[in-house]
Amino acid sequence: MMPLRCAIAFWSVSLAAGATALAGHPPITLRDQQGKNVLDSARPISTVQSCGRCHDTRYIATHSYHVALGSDETAAPGAIPSGRAWDWSPGPLGRWDPLTYRYLAPPGDARHDRDLAEWVSTYPRHVGGGPAQCIGLPKADGVEMNCFLCHTPKPDNETRLKELQQGRFDWANTATLASTGLIRPVQGGWAYQRQSFMADGSLQASRLGIREARSENCGLCHGLTDRGEQPLRLDLSLRQWSTATEGQVFSPQRICESAVNLRDKEHLTRAWDVHAERLLECASCHFSINNPAFSEPKLGHLKFEPRRLAPGQYLEQPSHQFARGHTSPGGLGHDFDGTMRRCEDCHTVAGTHDWLPYRQSHFARLSCEACHISQVYAPAVRQVDWTLLTPSGQPRIEWRGIEGDPADPTAEVTGFRPVLLPVQGLDGRSRLVPHNLIAAWYWVEGGQSPRPVRLADLKAALFQDGKYYPDVAHALAIGRAVLDTPDKVEAVRRRLKAVGVVDPQIEADVEPHALHHGVGPAKWAIRQCETCHAADSRLSQPFKLASYMPGGVLPKAVGGSELSGDLQSADRGLTYRPSTRQAALYVLGHNRWPWVNALGGFSLLAVVVGVVLHAGLRIRVAQQRKKRGSPPSHSASRSPRLPPPPTGNGSQSASTPPPAESS
Ligand code: HEC
Ligand code: HEC
Ligand code: HEC
Ligand code: HEC
Ligand code: HEC
Ligand code: HEC
Ligand code: HEC
Repeated sequence: MMPLRCAIAFWSVSLAAGATALAGHPPITLRDQQGKNVLDSARPISTVQSCGRCHDTRYIATHSYHVALGSDETAAPGAIPSGRAWDWSPGPLGRWDPLTYRYLAPPGDARHDRDLAEWVSTYPRHVGGGPAQCIGLPKADGVEMNCFLCHTPKPDNETRLKELQQGRFDWANTATLASTGLIRPVQGGWAYQRQSFMADGSLQASRLGIREARSENCGLCHGLTDRGEQPLRLDLSLRQWSTATEGQVFSPQRICESAVNLRDKEHLTRAWDVHAERLLECASCHFSINNPAFSEPKLGHLKFEPRRLAPGQYLEQPSHQFARGHTSPGGLGHDFDGTMRRCEDCHTVAGTHDWLPYRQSHFARLSCEACHISQVYAPAVRQVDWTLLTPSGQPRIEWRGIEGDPADPTAEVTGFRPVLLPVQGLDGRSRLVPHNLIAAWYWVEGGQSPRPVRLADLKAALFQDGKYYPDVAHALAIGRAVLDTPDKVEAVRRRLKAVGVVDPQIEADVEPHALHHGVGPAKWAIRQCETCHAADSRLSQPFKLASYMPGGVLPKAVGGSELSGDLQSADRGLTYRPSTRQAALYVLGHNRWPWVNALGGFSLLAVVVGVVLHAGLRIRVAQQRKKRGSPPSHSASRSPRLPPPPTGNGSQSASTPPPAESS
């Protein structure tokens, strides 16, 4: 590898010599795994070799939680603090997700749902490298870290995923260039369009479009991101991951200008995301932790870290550990907890929020997001049911924030109001953070190591020639085609046992997804005191979890967050009702605790008694002074500086009419 510092020097020299006309990124020779020019070898592109001539690709791939996806943070199944009984890592590689269902069994596990090679070919959200590089089918190489996904303008993710699905791992990264016109599909792989390359067999970097990672690149796996040029459309599927889990849309476009059929849209004159509107990128907040322009020391006493990487060093060895926060439970990259600037690290709240009394108390118990992400305008998943697959072999998924079929673009979108859950920050304090909750029901097989029933077993149990088994069909004939009666549950349980599943049980859980994106302009934030301080405020507003409960099974919380409230089943459905009491909050006007009220009453009495006593004493002193003819006491001149009289614990300010909410 030519060190990048030299490369840069070389590049500037060649520029000075007028050797090349284009400034910016130097030309790139696309190489295969053996380091040969692919024009000569006709082999797949190796990103490690091609980019590795100047950037330390080995360093990049080993410093990336996107590459590892938890494979470097493994533990015994069940020992992951925020995980389920069968999880063995905090990331998608080892952490089971009810949205995607498929379980990657720990290494050496005989009864697996899918092995690593199958995981690589079916998991769409991996950037390659690390664990994927090790899978070697007899005649092909594994998947290297895919630089094109994040560093080119039009990565062809669909074509990449097709290659993976077909098990052509070695061509997956090459196929990402399908929309550049540099390659064309041929029998068994891809061919290079020689005429697009330069005479010396290298390629203008502009032909690839090499550039810094932009939000759209992140959006390939993290939900809808958009520059706002065309009216925005939603794709309500798991392809838009963070949109599905959190209703997140990262776009500068004003909501009213989108193509979404949103209720009362004409009034929604704000941008989907104020940070996107003000030209922040994902990487503005989730930057490389050794980027000298951003990195901040986190070493105890240091306020300033003078030992920074020179720009050239950074370009050569940019860490691909991106700054992350702390409040996403069950997340990966725990060594990088709290490396990012959060809201309060970029914005000062001194001099703003003057309208809010007891700011210290409020900021100690409320996250910034609690007021600034008060409403989500895109639908998100509410309920996933794997206990009975639909005839097409799919789980039943229900969304919140939409009326009608999510697949129907004319269905009316209502958006939803997130639920506030306490989450512990790095300072050890628990603050209310807005969340979406996803409830999931699925069959678990018992025995030595409990785990979700393998998808193949589930299908084999339910279907015969593409139709439900007669017993199952018979049980389903009455009422909804879901497992909402003991008969239906038994019918499926019998079938599962028949295909060899040991002790099948329905289990259910609720996973919280914290919301940190989609902040609106300041004036759209919550301002009215009653929003929280009224008796039926949003601090305890019920949050619907499910329209039915398969098997009548009550879900339990997973993912590290605690549900500080109660699950209430009503009308066969399920609702979560947060409790400020269980979150150890006492919110004036909202809570009515007998002892606090008694205490309040007592202090009021004490104050009244005190005032009467004090006044009485002063009258007596004044009378005595009058008798002696002394000048008025100095206490009068001090009085302007006396603290204001007590007002009964501040409860009055809570009941003063608030300024109007301006949304
Ligand atoms: C011949 C050496 C060389 C090769 C090969 C090379 N780079 Fe670079 N790269 C550089 C230099 C030099 C810079 C700094 C260019 C500049 O200052 O604009 C750079 C900058 C970058 C940047 C930052 C761009 C920006 O606008 O901030 C990215 C991203 C990048 N390279 C990615 C890649 C990828 C991906 C590959 C492989 C497909 C690659 N590079 C191959 C030398 C190289
Ligand atoms: C998941 C997306 C992603 C992938 C995959 C990825 N990068 Fe990056 N890359 C980033 C981000 C984000 C940054 C940091 C940007 C910042 O701090 O502003 C970065 C930074 C860089 C930089 C430093 C210049 C800059 O833009 O800050 C280079 C060079 C680079 N990457 C090259 C590569 C190479 C080579 C590969 C493939 C081996 C690769 N990247 C794969 C997202 C990615
Ligand atoms: C204005 C700053 C900012 C921008 C811009 C931003 N984020 Fe974040 N992001 C945050 C904050 C704050 C958190 C929560 C950190 C914590 O845990 O306290 C977060 C959390 C996350 C998480 C972890 C949990 C979750 O909520 O999903 C992911 C993944 C993420 N961001 C991806 C992205 C992507 C992708 C983009 C661009 C589309 C982006 N972020 C843009 C500030 C930002
Ligand atoms: C090819 C898919 C892919 C791309 C592209 C991608 N990510 Fe991710 N990212 C993931 C997956 C998978 C996770 C694991 C957590 C999850 O399931 O969301 C993750 C996790 C994260 C996290 C940590 C979340 C946590 O647990 O706290 C951050 C931050 C993040 N990504 C930011 C980015 C940014 C910024 C970009 C663009 C430069 C980006 N990602 C591009 C797939 C991707
Ligand atoms: C990396 C720094 C950064 C982080 C982190 C960040 N912001 Fe911002 N924020 C900005 C910048 C820059 C702007 C644009 C300021 C401008 O244009 O005046 C902005 C704008 C805003 C605005 C719009 C203010 C207005 O004029 O209407 C609000 C509200 C806001 N941010 C709240 C938040 C919240 C809440 C969070 C945490 C979820 C957060 N920000 C995280 C940098 C950040
Ligand atoms: C109790 C609700 C609430 C909380 C908590 C809250 N904000 Fe605000 N914030 C508001 C409201 C309402 C406004 C708009 C005030 C206005 O219209 O003048 C605002 C304004 C802002 C602005 C724009 C300031 C300006 O003068 O233009 C920023 C930036 C901001 N908040 C960031 C934050 C950050 C960072 C936090 C967390 C430390 C936070 N807010 C916590 C309700 C809140
Ligand atoms: C987003 C919800 C929210 C909004 C809006 C809100 N508060 Fe609060 N308030 C809280 C929470 C939570 C606490 C903390 C309760 C605790 O510490 O147990 C609190 C505490 C208080 C306290 C007690 C402070 C103390 O130190 O004992 C007062 C007084 C108060 N709020 C008044 C107001 C007023 C007046 C407004 C409107 C201008 C307002 N609040 C708006 C949620 C809110």
